[in-house]
Amino acid sequence: MLKSLSIVFTCALALGTLSPAYAADPVIIKFSHVVADQTPKGQGALLFKKLVEERLTGKVKVEVYPNSSLFGDGKEMEALLLGDVQMIAPSLAKFEQYTKSLQLFDLPFLFNDIAAVNRFQLSPQGQGLLKSMESKNITGLAYWHNGMKQLSANKPLQVPADARGLKFRVQASAVLEEQFKAVRANPRKMSFAEVYQGLQTGVVNGAENPYSNIYSQKMHEVQKYITESNHGVLDYMLITNTRFWNGLPAEVRSELDKIVVEVTAQVNKEAEQLNDSDKQRILTAKTTEIIVLTPEQREQWRDAMKPVWKKFEGDIGPELIQAAEAANKAQ
Ligand code: LMR
Repeated sequence: MLKSLSIVFTCALALGTLSPAYAADPVIIKFSHVVADQTPKGQGALLFKKLVEERLTGKVKVEVYPNSSLFGDGKEMEALLLGDVQMIAPSLAKFEQYTKSLQLFDLPFLFNDIAAVNRFQLSPQGQGLLKSMESKNITGLAYWHNGMKQLSANKPLQVPADARGLKFRVQASAVLEEQFKAVRANPRKMSFAEVYQGLQTGVVNGAENPYSNIYSQKMHEVQKYITESNHGVLDYMLITNTRFWNGLPAEVRSELDKIVVEVTAQVNKEAEQLNDSDKQRILTAKTTEIIVLTPEQREQWRDAMKPVWKKFEGDIGPELIQAAEAANKAQ
């Protein structure tokens, strides 16, 4: 009797005719990232959690793990693919194992400013890249801005020759390695969580970051100079596990899609201002001199770094590079 009851129960579950207690449990979205809460990405993750829990109460719960507290660089992508987390937003520099096309964003001096980056991301080519890794079970939901990168070091960097021989921390990106080799510096790949200590102990002498990452990780306390080079961009792709996302009930997924659009607009509206305020905070802390380049000095950095494009043009695709360059002209 007991045995036949249990068979009936199992069959009913398999057919979906009986709702076990856990079927009513909310879907959990673990959102892991490597930066602080007070950064564009950190704020975006928290706003996403707030809106989801307001609008999908009881249906979806979002757990945000900032500052590499759950998974750091190198591990977060693997965790997404294994289903240990459901959303992450790695910097565009961290996708080269999955697609070479996104190396585009690391090319030095490609975009004039964040407005140009934004125009490209919204173009058909930019939007196409969001869907370029679905065969690998990665769906891009949106681009989130952080901002333009600045060089930092313990010596003033005015012209490329000043960087010669220095060790610079880079993200896991072959383009960024080549960028520093182009000015005869020594790039060293290092996860984000290790950068502060790396700079403090002299394992590396310099780095490249937007102001929000410099300030929120207190890097300015261990870097005497920042050169406002705006030589490249550090932006993110908000991604999810394709199978997880497609397996969500349609009405839940469509509400989540709407929330992503809303959060993206907010993050991208506020990112530049957040970086400006963090620049001001660094100036107020008086730990670090901010060097503003003359147009001629900036031209020297561009001339030294731009040959890197040639090395990656084949992998990225010349048409994509042209589309990105076209975005420098405001329509
Ligand atoms: C870095 O490693 O420098 C950045 O990608 C960190 C981040 O997520 O902003």
